[in-house]
Amino acid sequence: MLKKLIKSIRQYKFHSIIAPLFTIGEVFFEVMIPYLMALMIDNGFSSEDLPYIKEIGFWMLLCAIGGLACGILSGRFAAIASSGLAQNLRQDVYYKIQEFSFENIDKFSTASLVTRLTTDITNVQNAYQMVIRMLIRGPIMMIFSLIMAFMMSKSLSMIFLVAIPVLALFLYYITTHAHPYFKKMFDEYDNLNTVVRENLIGVRTVKAYVREEEEIGKFNIISDLMVKWSTKAESLLVLMDPVMFGAIYVCTLVCSYFGARMIVSETMTTGALMSLFTYAVQILTSMMMLSMVLVQIVMAMASVNRIVEVLDEESTLTNPENPVMEVKDGSVDFLDMNFGYSEGKDKYILRNINLHINSGEVIGVIGGTGSSKSSLVNLISRLYDVKEGCVKVGGVDVRDYDIETLRNKVAVVLQKNELFSGTIKENLRWGNENATDDEIINACRLAQADEFIEKFDDKYDTYIEHGGRNVSGGQKQRLCIARALLKDPKILILDDSTSAVDTATDAKIQAGFKSYIPDVTKFIIAQRITSVMNADKIIVLDEGEIVGFGSHDELMAGNRIYKEVYESQQKGGDFDEQ
Ligand SMILES: Nc1ncnc2c1ncn2[C@@H]1O[C@H](COP(=O)(O)OP(=O)(O)OP(=O)(O)O)[C@@H](O)[C@H]1O
Ligand SMILES: [Mg+2]
Repeated sequence: MLKKLIKSIRQYKFHSIIAPLFTIGEVFFEVMIPYLMALMIDNGFSSEDLPYIKEIGFWMLLCAIGGLACGILSGRFAAIASSGLAQNLRQDVYYKIQEFSFENIDKFSTASLVTRLTTDITNVQNAYQMVIRMLIRGPIMMIFSLIMAFMMSKSLSMIFLVAIPVLALFLYYITTHAHPYFKKMFDEYDNLNTVVRENLIGVRTVKAYVREEEEIGKFNIISDLMVKWSTKAESLLVLMDPVMFGAIYVCTLVCSYFGARMIVSETMTTGALMSLFTYAVQILTSMMMLSMVLVQIVMAMASVNRIVEVLDEESTLTNPENPVMEVKDGSVDFLDMNFGYSEGKDKYILRNINLHINSGEVIGVIGGTGSSKSSLVNLISRLYDVKEGCVKVGGVDVRDYDIETLRNKVAVVLQKNELFSGTIKENLRWGNENATDDEIINACRLAQADEFIEKFDDKYDTYIEHGGRNVSGGQKQRLCIARALLKDPKILILDDSTSAVDTATDAKIQAGFKSYIPDVTKFIIAQRITSVMNADKIIVLDEGEIVGFGSHDELMAGNRIYKEVYESQQKGGDFDEQ
């Protein structure tokens, strides 16, 4: 798992290696200072040897500067390495998500992908910085200081051999018990993100239904849980300080008591005792540092897992080895096709689909909500793969095409269509980045969008805000149709794309299609039979099965369901109220 992560270090390998080297230098200089101090006290002060004191003072100053310089350099390289790693990781995860099929995205959920790209990567960044600085610094500091302490006094340093294991056990207890609470806290983070995201995206609906109180309630429950878990974790962690300082004071007391006796009996010098005090602090604080880093690492491992999960995810849609690079025509065939979003025959939501549609035909698709209309047409541009049988476009299985080629020739206006922040022109050029202004205007005329665009002050340069907030539902639908037309497709699929457009404009759009793009196969999904009754053929879907296929007149003559729906709609009913 970590291998995947290490791969993302790439150009920052040098920084990642040099940072710990400087840390070692920093520790070396820091450990030398108390030793020089001891020399100064024992040899300089006692004999009042000023030149010696000056010389040692000079070396101490040099060590301090050396330590500082190494510290700064190591900090700098560690910062570059860790933010570089974060950048690479973010890029890798982001690129991976772009490869994802709809199925992959359904699996992770958008909110969770956002958390992985932000919070999780930041956790890894912080932990990595700690690892290359502190994880090296802790043990090295302890080893160096222990060696120096033993050099000063073997017998007194024995105290550390008792203090270190006791403290280690205690720190182990604290960190292992705090970890589960941190994990729970991070899980709540995910939930918080989901709630906040849902609320912000649907803020208009929340207000329209006066659901603020309930939304605040949901938010507070999660927020309280986060407080609960983090308080539990932190209340364990705060024990570290008193224990740490307790250990330092006990060691200092023991050293002072026995050290003073040894000084009196002249088996130890004052300088040695002084430096021993400093080493005691250095040894014990380095242990605490180590345990803090370990907590961070354990916490970050949960994030690493979540990131690697995305990196390891194989896109469920891949290009075949020798892809077909050309779509011959707009004919569509479904052969013994079954499809479901999850595994298992009983989960199929489209069953036994057999259809042949000629290039250039206008096909209406009609059926109640949830009858799998969208699912059926989404298989044509291979947004999902079929489970059994096959879908052919231009006589070739969609799985044999280069995905980009196929999607360029099959233009879909999705039921949940989106516009992006940018001008109208920029949005339309998603359909074809090289489209000329004339082509854009033509497409908009055909989609009946030019009329309202001309009324905007900035016309085609009008700025569309994030998510298309500043255009109406019907305007947005027409812009999305124009965007699809610019692809110059062989098949055009409109998934309930004129639901917010008035009937007269809807009819104008369809008439335009007939005269200007007669060769394009058109699929029109609608709730209103009037929107599709002029189509060459109409597919009637009921709970995932085709229950009728033919022209309006044929269906009226021979299809009971269709006839009943038509008659109920004439009276003002809806498809679902059959
Ligand atoms: N991404 C998805 N993951 C899992 N199940 C899904 C997904 N999309 C749709 N479904 C399920 O598949 C079935 C058919 O949905 P579909 O969206 O195709 O219906 P529809 O006929 O287009 O409905 P509507 O008229 O409301 O747009 C429904 O039961 C729905 O719950
Ligand atoms: Mg639908």
